[in-house]
Amino acid sequence: MSITLRLARSVACVIWLAVGSAVDELVDAVSGVLDRDLPEADSIGAMWPAMERFLGRAGELPREASQPDADGGAIGHLLYDDPAGRFHILSVVFPPGTSSGTHEHGCWGIIGYIAGLDEETRYQRVDGGAADEGCVLEEVERVIHEPGTISRLLPPDEMHHRVRNPGTENGVSVHVLCRLPETHPHKFYDREHHRLLPYPFRRLPDGLVRADVEFS
Ligand SMILES: [Fe+2]
Repeated sequence: MSITLRLARSVACVIWLAVGSAVDELVDAVSGVLDRDLPEADSIGAMWPAMERFLGRAGELPREASQPDADGGAIGHLLYDDPAGRFHILSVVFPPGTSSGTHEHGCWGIIGYIAGLDEETRYQRVDGGAADEGCVLEEVERVIHEPGTISRLLPPDEMHHRVRNPGTENGVSVHVLCRLPETHPHKFYDREHHRLLPYPFRRLPDGLVRADVEFS
């Protein structure tokens, strides 16, 4: 029994080390890009090859990081948070039929799609304002991302979207997002009342991260 347990622990250790190296490579690349202090669009472009390399190693992602929440809902798994607070990396799981709702990211991001299908609908703000009230979004694009594809978030024109899993297996994607989970500017679009609501990421036990809408 003890030999079996030791072996299991050893195998798990090897897997996590391999995963660490894939995440570490992405972290190093993103950190190196941010050190150059480029315009955001150029930064994302410079991160693109690193995300492509990461997707090539997506098979190393541990099973835990590809699992939905215990209640079967969508969830994020925190893979890394930058000590300098510049970015964090999440593995996000959307089970079949789940959706993020339409929301806004107030700063840059790059997303790589690993497994399943994620339908991403993109919106642009058309009311001419920037306040949370009086917000009107119109759909501009709808894409179904298959594993291996990459998309970006780039305010102010590419910051509103909705992700929905139209498939029959879990949709898994890796998000490199500006700032930290608790400081990432994330807002939910209340279509009925034409307003943006706080949609903060919350750190949960076991490295889980979930966004919950704060209705006022
Ligand atoms: Fe998003």
